[in-house]
Amino acid sequence: MDCQPHRSCNQAETSLIVMRSFSAFLFAVLIAASRSTSWASVTIPLRKLEFTGSYLQGSPHADRARAASFLETTSGPETIPATSMGYQYTVRVGVGSPATYYDLLVDTGSSNTFVGTGKKYVRTSTSVPTGQNVTVTYGTGTGFFSGIEYNDTVTLAPGFAIKNQSIGDALNSSTFEGVDGLIGLGPADLTEHTLTPDTGLIPTVMDNALKQGLIKNQIFGISFAPAPTLPDTNGVITYGGIDPAWYIGDITYTPITKTSQSSGYWGINVTQATYGAHTVIPQSTAGIVDSGTNLVRLADDFFSRYLEAIPGAYVDVNKTGLIVIPLISVGTMQPLNFTINGRVFTMDAAAQLLPMREHLNPGGARYGVINKAGANSGSGFDFILGLKFMERYYVVFDADNSRVGFAYTNHTFTRNTPVAERELRITGE
Ligand SMILES: *[C@@H]1O[C@H](CO)[C@@H](O)[C@H](O)[C@H]1NC(C)=O
Ligand SMILES: *[C@@H]1O[C@H](CO)[C@@H](O)[C@H](O)[C@H]1NC(C)=O
Ligand SMILES: *[C@@H]1O[C@H](CO)[C@@H](O)[C@H](O)[C@H]1NC(C)=O
Ligand SMILES: *[C@@H]1O[C@H](CO)[C@@H](O)[C@H](O)[C@H]1NC(C)=O
Ligand SMILES: *[C@@H]1O[C@H](CO)[C@@H](O)[C@H](O)[C@H]1NC(C)=O
Ligand SMILES: *[C@@H]1O[C@H](CO)[C@@H](O)[C@H](O)[C@H]1NC(C)=O
Ligand SMILES: *[C@@H]1O[C@H](CO)[C@@H](O)[C@H](O)[C@H]1NC(C)=O
Repeated sequence: MDCQPHRSCNQAETSLIVMRSFSAFLFAVLIAASRSTSWASVTIPLRKLEFTGSYLQGSPHADRARAASFLETTSGPETIPATSMGYQYTVRVGVGSPATYYDLLVDTGSSNTFVGTGKKYVRTSTSVPTGQNVTVTYGTGTGFFSGIEYNDTVTLAPGFAIKNQSIGDALNSSTFEGVDGLIGLGPADLTEHTLTPDTGLIPTVMDNALKQGLIKNQIFGISFAPAPTLPDTNGVITYGGIDPAWYIGDITYTPITKTSQSSGYWGINVTQATYGAHTVIPQSTAGIVDSGTNLVRLADDFFSRYLEAIPGAYVDVNKTGLIVIPLISVGTMQPLNFTINGRVFTMDAAAQLLPMREHLNPGGARYGVINKAGANSGSGFDFILGLKFMERYYVVFDADNSRVGFAYTNHTFTRNTPVAERELRITGE
């Protein structure tokens, strides 16, 4: 039986699903600290504090000829820009006609699309209430939205408009920091039981784009990247295919895992993970690839192996819940290597650390992006390769062939990224 984000699940099953909302909570804690405590103001420069403030307030931001051009622009893959806010990515999505544009969080780990958490839903002549209420809870219910379901025109790119897309108008919700809602790019199964009256699964934007002929293949490719400044429109999503301009070499595909609960998501098996000479994940294990989770989460026993391999590292249980890597160990960090279908996908030392701007800096130590999941392995949901992993690779979400693909990019290794210089400079201080 599936355990989806909006359902109540038993303890083991919920353990990792909880982490999405925990990630959001975590950053709320960091922000609160940066605003109010002397601890914060002493350890980070004012410029960063100011930046943190605005960053958290969500600043970012027919005739035959016509028919022919419509087909031309809409039946192939469509690449659109995506914006990094550091801990999440957004895309601009139009709703209604004329369209109002919203910045929606890109979430491959859920499947309902909604607006209204920031900018309010602007109804137009294309907005048709379906007569249903919608409620989606994320994790244990600390994250949620509820509201009214509509059919409306959803424009993902110029000339790329989905008609009658079922979307939510969020009338009440938990904090969705800096976004107007969410675009759900997970499988439609994750929309189960979110509507009242319940009329079954909600076709996702990808389902409808395929059905309406806007794309020929139910595939999307994502390129995210570390950002030197925020917000940074340094990412892309290609709907309907992949864009070779954004990766290097071959794509390594691996099938969607058959292991529940990961099988209900963009779930895959990792066959091994190592940190330097230490084994972190000893055998084939199922988990998910989720752009809606900002960190990389490992089942607690796997995380312990990682933690113990880094001299002096500990978890800041009192304040942030993040791993702290003492300055003395920062310079000797080893690559964290995940093996996926026989190929190694590494997170180098800098990829395992939060950029300085995203955290406070306890005594010159660094916070890390690898974190624990909250339960031991064995639940069938034993890792989340979140945003901080995705920022290093091109990722292909291929529903047609039930597989996920990964390829190297210009920013897989930190030496190639603008963040590298910045981080090395700061680390050397
Ligand atoms: C909403 O759109 C779907 C097709 O996507 C259609 O089947 C349904 O009847 C529409 N509902 C309303 C209330 O128009
Ligand atoms: C949208 O739904 C309406 C009914 O609400 C229907 O008449 C129309 O054909 C649908 N259009 C598409 C593209 O599904
Ligand atoms: C919004 O949701 C919260 C949590 O479920 C609830 O306590 C509150 O009453 C709701 N507010 C409104 C206006 O419905
Ligand atoms: C990657 O780097 C190569 C060589 O510097 C460059 O030609 C290419 O445009 C870069 N690709 C992207 C997506 O930045
Ligand atoms: C981890 O990956 C890096 C980069 O591909 C490689 O240089 C290193 O040898 C790998 N380490 C192990 C233990 O496999
Ligand atoms: C995937 O991992 C699960 C454990 O999470 C394991 O039971 C299953 O056999 C693995 N599948 C493959 C194909 O290795
Ligand atoms: C957490 O707080 C307790 C009580 O103040 C303290 O004893 C402990 O050392 C702290 N732990 C960490 C990891 O900071």
